[in-house]
Amino acid sequence: MLKRHRFSYPVNVSSMYDHGWRNITNIDFSKPCIEQGRLSPSSASRPGVKWLVMDACSLTFEDASFDTAIDKGTLDAIACSEAFDWFLSRMARSIVRVLRPGGIWVCVSFTPPEIALPLLEECKEWEVEVEKWRSFWMYVGRKRGI
Ligand SMILES: C[S@@+](CC[C@H](N)C(=O)[O-])C[C@H]1O[C@@H](n2cnc3c(N)ncnc32)[C@H](O)[C@@H]1O
Repeated sequence: MLKRHRFSYPVNVSSMYDHGWRNITNIDFSKPCIEQGRLSPSSASRPGVKWLVMDACSLTFEDASFDTAIDKGTLDAIACSEAFDWFLSRMARSIVRVLRPGGIWVCVSFTPPEIALPLLEECKEWEVEVEKWRSFWMYVGRKRGI
């Protein structure tokens, strides 16, 4: 399953857009980070991409409103924080809520599964697989249901 996903998800906004992805929404709870993305030249040439200040542990999107969620650096930032176990569990529940049944979360991470996997798997509404890829871990979570 991971092999099938691995090459289908270019993990930056520009290359996703250029591969035909639309309805892309980026979030970060840092306003400067979001402003930098929104104002970047690559964003100007790719209309319709949304940039929102939002906490990944408390997403405000509607239930089941996304097919795919891609994490690049957020899990790792949270894993370095105090009380990371509480935040990681919250992030997992928040992501699962906004994924449609069958939807997937893809995360390229430096955080080893010994730390992250038990916390991600506390949420029973998805299945999470992990595989080593070069110096990274590739996590893929699939929300149960069709
Ligand atoms: C390593 S940076 C990655 C930034 C960006 N995703 C990228 O790929 O270039 C980690 C980011 O996670 C953000 N972050 C940390 N905790 C977060 C949370 N709970 N909700 C949203 N963003 C968070 C930080 O503000 C920081 O911008």
